[in-house]
Amino acid sequence: MQGTKAIAVHEITRKFGTATAVDRISFEVDRGEFFGFLGPNGAGKTTLIRMLTTLLVPTGGKAVVAGFDVAEDPSEVRKHIGVVPQAMTSDLDLTGRENMDIYGRFYGIRARQRKERVERLLEMVGLAQRADDLVATYSGGMRRRLEIARVLVHRPELLFLDEPTIGLDPQSRRVVWDLLRKLTEGGSITIFLTTHYMEEAETLCGRVAIIDAGRIIAMGSPAELKAGIPGNDIITLRVGGLTGEIVQSIKKLPFVHNVGMEDESIRVSADNGAENLPGLIDAVRASGGTILSASVHEQSLEDVFIHYTGKSIREEEARKINFLVGAGIPRGFGR
Ligand SMILES: Nc1ncnc2c1ncn2[C@@H]1O[C@H](COP(=O)(O)OP(=O)(O)OP(=O)(O)O)[C@@H](O)[C@H]1O
Ligand SMILES: [Mg+2]
Repeated sequence: MQGTKAIAVHEITRKFGTATAVDRISFEVDRGEFFGFLGPNGAGKTTLIRMLTTLLVPTGGKAVVAGFDVAEDPSEVRKHIGVVPQAMTSDLDLTGRENMDIYGRFYGIRARQRKERVERLLEMVGLAQRADDLVATYSGGMRRRLEIARVLVHRPELLFLDEPTIGLDPQSRRVVWDLLRKLTEGGSITIFLTTHYMEEAETLCGRVAIIDAGRIIAMGSPAELKAGIPGNDIITLRVGGLTGEIVQSIKKLPFVHNVGMEDESIRVSADNGAENLPGLIDAVRASGGTILSASVHEQSLEDVFIHYTGKSIREEEARKINFLVGAGIPRGFGR
């Protein structure tokens, strides 16, 4: 690989008509890094990944992937990367092994080497026993693992995964996470992943960029991102008889940083939540409110997202899963 960075992106932009899906995004990823883009529906994750993987031409800016410019040298870029798109693409009418073999043929890998690699990879993703069954009989998690194994057949230096665990049950999701962790252990592969799962970004990624409406709104390690917002805990109170006066009295407390309101609930970012909870409850009561429930949790990436955007990613999740699996933008569309 030429250059020192696995990915170097400068003000990359993609417009569709008058709408800007990706808006002057810049970032760099070192070799061997596990880097994540976290963002809600329509944030621009897929558009960005399609530009970085040469499937979509940027309308502005520049991206160098594996040492090659995506606009000037797309075929060189493709040789060095593996791409697992958002929608599942393995062929249901073929077996797992056949899917892998065809992919190896596309890359011109010789028969003996192909066979060896396919065997080893099927073993690695735990599909050796099911390799000769039709993919139509696989679970979603098995299919995802097959698709990850498949893009490793040509030994890419860089792996792009667009929402790799979308729609999987929690157990299958963990199996995919373990697999991805195992891949980066040697430090020889760089992973770029998009997700809207906080936990996924938090547990897997060394660094995370939070993206919303086509722009990066924060970037850093999960710990840095959390440290970058005020307070260290979130206290959620459900309050009967909630009034503006109650909210004002909470805002005046010295340990309180931010107060958000949703229906009957108040979301307070605070220092030392557990210790300060009684003080908060006292303030609500003194202003005439009744406490219906109270909870304290440490700030997470979800809270970082809410801090910067004023909205929650979680709300969008259910809607998306219903809609997504198997969907995707047809090849060549929007180029
Ligand atoms: N081919 C296209 N033509 C027109 N608009 C597009 C096209 N592809 C994407 N968009 C728009 O660009 C924006 C970003 O879409 P994109 O698919 O990149 O978001 P995303 O973050 O991947 O969302 P999701 O979480 O739903 O996968 C959206 O407003 C989308 O409607
Ligand atoms: Mg997408």
